[in-house]
Amino acid sequence: MIKPLNPRRMARRLPGAGVGAPQPRSVVPPLLVSLLVLGSGDVAADLKEGARIFKDACAECHTLKEGRNKKGPSVYAVVGRKAATIGDYEYSDAIRSSNIVWDDATLDAYLLNPNKVVPGGKMKYEGLKDPEKRRNVIRYLKFFSE
Ligand code: HEC
Repeated sequence: MIKPLNPRRMARRLPGAGVGAPQPRSVVPPLLVSLLVLGSGDVAADLKEGARIFKDACAECHTLKEGRNKKGPSVYAVVGRKAATIGDYEYSDAIRSSNIVWDDATLDAYLLNPNKVVPGGKMKYEGLKDPEKRRNVIRYLKFFSE
C-alpha cells in the first residue's frame, strides 16, 4: 500500500524550507525587529510621531525603561500585560481591581479618558483627544512591548 504523503514532512525536506518561517518572538533579536519595523516608511513615520507624543504628553510621568517609575509606573512592555502589575509601584485601588488587560482597545479608551475607564484612578491626565495621536502612541508603546 502506498503511504499518503505527509505535507509537513515534505516541507521539511524541501531545500530552504523553514527559512523565513515565523520565529518565536524571543528568538528574533530586538535590533532585527527594529530594522524590520523601521524599514517601511509609514510605520517609521508613525513611530517617530508616537515618540514625539510620548515625550510631550506622557514622559512627565512615565518612562519606557524597565523598572524606572516616575509619578506613574514604567510603561515598558505594557501592551499585553494586565493593568497594575509593576511590583514596586503603588497603584490606586481602582486600577488594581480593574481587571484590565492592556491592548489596542483598552489603551485607546484609557488614553482618551483615564478617569472614565478607571474611575478613582490616579492617572491625572486629561486624555489624548485625537484618535490618530492615540493610535501612534499606542504603536510606540507596542514597539517597546515586542
Ligand atoms: C500627570 C501624570 C501622568 C501623565 C501625563 C500620564 N500618566 Fe499614565 N499613569 C499615571 C499614573 C499616576 C498611573 C497609575 C494609575 C493608578 O494607579 O490608578 C498611570 C497609569 C498608566 C498606565 C497603566 C500602567 C499599568 O501598569 O497598568 C498606562 C498604560 C499609562 N498610564 C499610559 C500613559 C500614556 C501613554 C500617557 C501619555 C499619553 C500617560 N499615561 C500620561 C500618570 C500619568
